[in-house]
Amino acid sequence: MSTAAIHGGWRAQDPHGAVVPPIYATSAYAHPDHASLKALFARRSEGFAYSRSGNPTTTVLEERITALEGGIGAIAVASGQAATTIALCALLEPGSHVVASRRLYGGTTEFLDDTLADMGVTSTTVDPWDLEAWEQAIRPETRAVLLESIANPGAELVDLRAISDIAHAHDVPVVVDSTLASPALYRPGDHGADVIVHSATKYLSGHGTTIAGLIVDTGSFDPRCRPERWSRLTTPNPRFGVTFADDYGSGSSGLLAYARAKYVTDFGATLPAASAQQILVGIETLDLRMERISANAEALAAHLHTAAGVDQVHHPSIPGRPDAAIASRDFPHGTSGVFSIDLAGGEAGAAAFCDALELFTIAVNIGDARSLVCHPATTTHSHLTPQQRTACGVGPGTVRLSIGLEDLADLRADLDRGLRAV
Ligand SMILES: Cc1ncc(COP(=O)(O)O)c(C=O)c1O
Repeated sequence: MSTAAIHGGWRAQDPHGAVVPPIYATSAYAHPDHASLKALFARRSEGFAYSRSGNPTTTVLEERITALEGGIGAIAVASGQAATTIALCALLEPGSHVVASRRLYGGTTEFLDDTLADMGVTSTTVDPWDLEAWEQAIRPETRAVLLESIANPGAELVDLRAISDIAHAHDVPVVVDSTLASPALYRPGDHGADVIVHSATKYLSGHGTTIAGLIVDTGSFDPRCRPERWSRLTTPNPRFGVTFADDYGSGSSGLLAYARAKYVTDFGATLPAASAQQILVGIETLDLRMERISANAEALAAHLHTAAGVDQVHHPSIPGRPDAAIASRDFPHGTSGVFSIDLAGGEAGAAAFCDALELFTIAVNIGDARSLVCHPATTTHSHLTPQQRTACGVGPGTVRLSIGLEDLADLRADLDRGLRAV
């Protein structure tokens, strides 16, 4: 893990010997002759034409995350939201259906309920811990199962192997948003995931500087298992003149080739090269940060569990959590730094708590080196219905904490300061 985090995708191939992958600040790429550029557009050769669909700096990032997740390929995109959108668009079509966990980042729920619904795709959400519910929700037109390996904001863990087995028995691919876990804590591909998406904005960046997203193909989904379901991949594509699924024979990802050629290009959801370089630098220290952040979070969750004014702490280490066995089996290195607490006094209590904190910053981000706090019901999950918020574990007094790398004693003292104000 540590070696791939530093060397993955980069072998100092820069002609000037740059040690760190440089930022290729170019919109287009010169070709030696007409035939060379023509071959690229006809997909008869590999290379770069225009940075909307590929850039040497982002290629290093794509190769690095592929190595870290143990996949067969990846594409870097403009944001985590773009990663989820593009991964799902590549699998779905009007009339198809998604089964999703109820415990999702609010923006993902909004995408399913609103934009995907506009595109003629329906979705059913289920309790991620109810295996029977996953089985029952799958329909003949289901084309993807979607969940978070560690859910935002309540840090619920799922039995991904069991859910994947259910989905695969119906030839349905499993898409896992592994933003909160990162490959330092959990590799969804080892537990049955077919496609992994990341908001690289969070732990992969690690310092709150950059918006970015990644899609990884783990290589286990082959659309040729049900060619009629994914005909846009399994038959000659009229626009591009190729059958994308044939890429699978060569060990590369037809799904990603299709996603890049069509959706990254059409949506223009390109990751800037400078952002790719910042994510690459962040990944170099990923496992060190995740270890420290996870340990800090677990210690603070235990502290808050016994503190006055806290109704409930939502962290897998808290006694009685249904996912305790999953934590000890699948997450030996910790469960990251995001968890939530329910405070007495509803929104007013949460506001008093947040406003009294001096070290935690009030901000709607997670995965930063500095500790952050927000009130999901009025921010990240504010566009959901009250029922959807309840299903996500977000109540009026819920506060999300994203624990950073500061000294544990200072963080504990700051949380105590917040609680005294509730
Ligand atoms: C779990 C999860 N997935 C996806 C996203 C969206 O990522 P981005 O903000 O990079 O678009 C977020 C953002 O908070 C998230 O927490």
